Order: sequence, then C-alpha cells, then structure tokens
Amino acid sequence: MTRVLVIGGGQNSEHDVSLASASAVAAALRAGGHEVSEVTISREGMWQVPDAPPPASAAESLAQALSLLADIEVVFPAVHGLLGEDGALAALCALAGVRVVGSDLRAGAIGMDKWATKLVAEAVGIRTARGRLVAASAIGDVEYDGPVVVKPVSAGSSHGVTLVQDAGDLLGALEEAAAHDDRILVEEVLHGREIDVAVIREAGGIRWAAPALEIHAAGLFDTATKYDGSARFTVPAALTATEGAVLKRAAVAMFDALGCAGIARMDFFLTSEGPVLNEVNTMPGMTAASQVPRMFAAAGVSYEDLVDRLVRAAVVPGAAR
Ligand SMILES: Nc1ncnc2c1ncn2[C@@H]1O[C@H](COP(=O)(O)OP(=O)(O)O)[C@@H](O)[C@H]1O
Ligand SMILES: [Mg+2]
Repeated sequence: MTRVLVIGGGQNSEHDVSLASASAVAAALRAGGHEVSEVTISREGMWQVPDAPPPASAAESLAQALSLLADIEVVFPAVHGLLGEDGALAALCALAGVRVVGSDLRAGAIGMDKWATKLVAEAVGIRTARGRLVAASAIGDVEYDGPVVVKPVSAGSSHGVTLVQDAGDLLGALEEAAAHDDRILVEEVLHGREIDVAVIREAGGIRWAAPALEIHAAGLFDTATKYDGSARFTVPAALTATEGAVLKRAAVAMFDALGCAGIARMDFFLTSEGPVLNEVNTMPGMTAASQVPRMFAAAGVSYEDLVDRLVRAAVVPGAAR
C-alpha cells in the first residue's frame, strides 16, 4: 500500500481529458489497495485542495497543495499537455523530493516540443516528417507549395492541427495553430498506417514495449474522432514480425534517447519506407479505454496492474544516483 496523490485537470486545452485520466487512475489505485488522495488544477491554474479555505491566488492554492505533498509517498500527475506533461509537475516533485510517476523535467519538456523531438529522433536515426518551424509572428510570409500539415509545436488532442490541401486554406490553418503556440510546424503530409507503441520502464529499470496499436481514422486523427467514440483501434496491430520488431526498437530507442521514465507512447506512421515518428507523449491518455492501457491489456497487464506498476516504478526525478 502506497499513499498516492493523483493530480488531474490542468491549465490547457486537454483539461477535460486529464480529469478523465485522473479519476480512472485514482479509482484503479484504490481498487489495488493504495491510499489515494486527489487534487485538481483548474483551467485558471488554481489547485483545488479539498477542505482548504478558498485561496486568493494561484500561488496561495499551490501553497495549500504543497502541504498535500508532505503527506504522501508518490505523486501520479495525470495531467496532459502544458504545465503538466511538459515536465512542470515532475519539476515540482523534484524540488519537493517526492517520488513521481513518469518522466522527469527534461524528457517531459523535449517530448512536449515536437520540433525538439524531431532533432533528437533524427540524431538517433529515427525518421520524422520533414518540416519547418515558423514563428507565429511570421505566418504571413509562408508560401503554399503543396499539401502540408500545420500544427502547433506544443499542444495535444489534435488542437490546432490542420491538413492543408489548398493554398487558400493555409493562412487560416497557421492562425489556428498560432492560437495554441507561438511556434508552428509546417510538415510534409505522411502517408501510411498510424501505429502507436507504448513503452514502460518498470521498477528496477527494465523497459519494454507493449504490442502496437493501429488507429483507423479516415484522414487526420482529429479532436472529434479522438473523443466522440468513432475512432477504431486494432490491438495488437496486424504487423509482420519484422514491422513489429522495427517499431518496438524505434520506440525503445526514442524512450532511451529522451531518458523517459514510467510510461510513454511513441506515435508512428508506418510508411512504405518504414516507420516515421510523428510524436511522443510522456503522459498519454490513461483511462482504461485509452490507447496505452489497451496496449498493455494486450500484453496481459490489466489496468489496475499497470497503474500499480507505475507507482512502484516512481522515483524522485533528477535525484543524484
Ligand atoms: N505530417 C503529418 N502527415 C499526416 N498526418 C499527420 C501529420 N502530422 C499529424 N497528422 C495527423 O494529425 C493527428 C494529430 O497530430 P499530432 O501531431 O499527433 O498532434 P497531437 O499532439 O495533438 O496528437 C495525427 O494523429 C495524424 O492523424
Ligand atoms: Mg497525436
């Protein structure tokens, strides 16, 4: 039995997804015999600490939340996106000397940045989509030279991601991405199967990849398809032994290159020339019906077992070894 604080919500467009992940994680940890407390971060950044007097500011709410950290053994930060998955909560735990589930500040921050992720991937020989970085202040200068995917460098849940197939749609797509980030990626359109691979690093340091999952989305896997229940997944994905092995090797190599911990989901396109990494999620969706738990279920690891393993694997991030 471990005393675990589950954090949900968060100050970004994935707030509601994080609430769903957090409540599912908390329930499964309780079912597994852990003593669980929960705190939610509002969209405005207020930590909603149960039974605490109404805070006058976000800073005061954080001070209240810090007292929770003093009473628990492990933090499970089920917060996707900015000021959560990007390493912010891992950094808070590092400063407080508290064990935390998942990646540290560095892996979270690089994984959240789709441009930096490309640089790391290419450096270890993993292909990514060719793309260029555009400052939000310079979107008027971008010329249309064929179909592209436009996306914010740091966002999630497909917010601000657009497939542009017509010159007249380019500026609108860039403006949409600029609403999410001041850095924008303009990428070549990849054609291939969308295959995700989840990697876990367990207590003791062994890491392994679960069977891959294929997303069947007609066109772009957009926000509506992600959450309206219409997305179809195949787990395990129908892959040849070679395809499966190549994808797993790339996923683990990326996990290691970033120095991830806990769990990470590496999303690929399987093209005619092999796997191309699309993006990395260091705190992927964690309801029982989300992709990562379904991949581990295919490996014989139940949802309750999965969250329990993550708690057991938690360390104080950045601690000298
Ligand atoms: N370069 C690309 N070529 C083709 N489709 C893409 C490309 N980049 C993204 N997509 C599609 O858009 C979806 C969302 O993009 P992604 O980069 O994964 O953003 P998010 O972090 O919001 O999930 C992907 O799942 C995929 O379907
Ligand atoms: Mg994605």
